[in-house]
Amino acid sequence: MAKTITEFICSECGASSPRWLGRCPSCGKFNTMTEEIIKSSEQRTSQSQKKAVYAGRAKPLSEITYERHNRTPSGISEFDNVLGGGIVSGSLVLLGGDPGIGKSTLLTQIAAHLSENKKVLYFSAEESCSQVKMRAQRLNLRSENLLIINETCIDCLDSELEGVEFCVIDSIQAVYTDDLSSSAGSVGQVRECAAKIMRIAKSRGITFFIIGHVTKEGALAGPKVLEHIMDTVLYFEGENQENFRILRAVKNRFGNVAEVGVFEMTGEGIVAVTDYSGVFLSESRGEEPGSAVTPAQTGARCMNVEIQTLVSKTSFGLPRRMPLGIDYNKLVLLIAVLEKRCGLSLGGSDVYVNAMGGIKLNEPACDLAVCAALASAYYSKPIDKYTAVFGEVGLTGEVRAVSYCEKRVAECVKMGFRKVLVPAKNMKSVTKYTDKITVIPVLYVNTMIKALFKD
Ligand SMILES: Nc1ncnc2c1ncn2[C@@H]1O[C@H](COP(=O)(O)OP(=O)(O)OP(=O)(O)O)[C@@H](O)[C@H]1O
Ligand SMILES: [Mg+2]
Repeated sequence: MAKTITEFICSECGASSPRWLGRCPSCGKFNTMTEEIIKSSEQRTSQSQKKAVYAGRAKPLSEITYERHNRTPSGISEFDNVLGGGIVSGSLVLLGGDPGIGKSTLLTQIAAHLSENKKVLYFSAEESCSQVKMRAQRLNLRSENLLIINETCIDCLDSELEGVEFCVIDSIQAVYTDDLSSSAGSVGQVRECAAKIMRIAKSRGITFFIIGHVTKEGALAGPKVLEHIMDTVLYFEGENQENFRILRAVKNRFGNVAEVGVFEMTGEGIVAVTDYSGVFLSESRGEEPGSAVTPAQTGARCMNVEIQTLVSKTSFGLPRRMPLGIDYNKLVLLIAVLEKRCGLSLGGSDVYVNAMGGIKLNEPACDLAVCAALASAYYSKPIDKYTAVFGEVGLTGEVRAVSYCEKRVAECVKMGFRKVLVPAKNMKSVTKYTDKITVIPVLYVNTMIKALFKD
């Protein structure tokens, strides 16, 4: 076999060098040279060979047959929901998360469940076989058939996969390929190892779960292409001190990315949480000013989430805006609407906003609740514990209609709320709930402020 030749290529300008350089001599950028495999001339198929092999393979769409995606339950319903209804065979799933958040625990549980009637391999590059066994025993898993290998060289993977249907790689940053001389975890290594795994997954129809580490900024470590070649990219998040964890998809070729899964880390492992009220709503809501509840739609599910705000006088010249769980630009826009259309003077105040439970609220329907929480903090008047608010806020101060209105009101009824403020344009769709809950139509942000604080 011809020896693989590698070169260092600049990711910015494409300049090449036979050895690693800290700064690209061509474009002058730092830290852009990554190692790549260069095929020797014998390895490359000649043009005439290529023509003979590849000619006439294109077909009309009508002639293409396909199999419906075969989905396997993972044993954890919340995980299946986030994947879009189960594990798609032959897919590549990347699971990223902070150190110690429970990535290995979650995937060991799933691997153990799958191993009850399928052949599953746990390729552990980070922990020894006995450490994996210790964890499995602590979690009381029925995992007699789970195959475990402690190995860091990805080139050995192919020979271990005889009959295997699911494989867990723990983790992509800890494995390496002999084809590159750079150390495990470097950009080149991560990219090459991921490409090798993808080739195996697609050619042999094996499902891979790959654990990935995240950087200090919270993005997956390694090249962006790692996310591009995956079918599904999941993030496992949560505060380490708290036991709740949120699993969300940032990319999913087989399902909705808005779906989130809620888990709790217990001594017996990770368990799905079905009653979210303790996660996204605080005990003391309704007692202190600055908090509002909104029924948020995440994927196929609707759950009530509390938004907490704090408005305090700016000590320095420039007021701070610190949103957690909602978009920064959205917050700045809503503050401007409150200032201009409702006369709240927030220009000299620092504003902090937090969506409880570490959830990310990206949908416009949460706008009105952010405004309600800010107004509550501004007027120092708490909003009643059993009142929920939702609606999109426009720059003119009007409250626009939102999707899933009926579902949101139904969730409020289910959770025992007594009053809900809805966009006036959505009023028609919720008339059937008016005997169970007080529904107040809101046409402008001002109307909401009046209804909540000035009655
Ligand atoms: N005996 C135990 N009882 C309860 N929880 C435990 C116990 N041992 C470990 N844990 C929990 O498991 C977590 C570690 O889980 P795990 O090793 O799966 O995380 P990880 O995301 O794979 O970490 P790493 O990035 O280091 O691989 C700890 O943070 C802790 O919360
Ligand atoms: Mg781990």
